[in-house]
Amino acid sequence: MPHQLLFVCLGNICRSPSAENIMNHLIQREGLSDQMICDSAGTSSYHIGSPPDRRMAAAASKRGITLAGQARQFHLEDFEKFDLILAMDKENYRNILTLDLKGQYSDKVKLICDFCRHHSDQEVPDPYYGGTEGFNYVIDLLLDACEGLLEG
Ligand code: 4NP
Repeated sequence: MPHQLLFVCLGNICRSPSAENIMNHLIQREGLSDQMICDSAGTSSYHIGSPPDRRMAAAASKRGITLAGQARQFHLEDFEKFDLILAMDKENYRNILTLDLKGQYSDKVKLICDFCRHHSDQEVPDPYYGGTEGFNYVIDLLLDACEGLLEG
């Protein structure tokens, strides 16, 4: 059974699809595609069914990464299905843990920035209402975190 990772943000159109597609890119590069499965979700219902934000896709494309996927909301079955649930910021983290009514899955839920090796940020900043630099920064931060996660 492959290792299953779920990346979670608020809208599932900027940060978590970037994390999912960056991780898939690294997994393919390392020849580990048959050992890991990645998915992403949002804590909100705001953008269900939408493709990744075009500003986010443009920033990813500058790093050679194509963003694929359609937004979906996090649901309770995800606690059972995934081995690791990676929140982009502390609000996402709290919102996920609030859904874990019995506290039985809390060990699976982590902040993705805990895996960064080169950045000291604790959270992936929400780029949605900002400019191009914010989207570029999300990609660089997530490349650092995903490399750290993959290389353990
Ligand atoms: P994400 O970014 O959580 O990284 O997908 C956002 C997307 C949409 C909104 C906020 C953040 N929004 O408020 O609609």
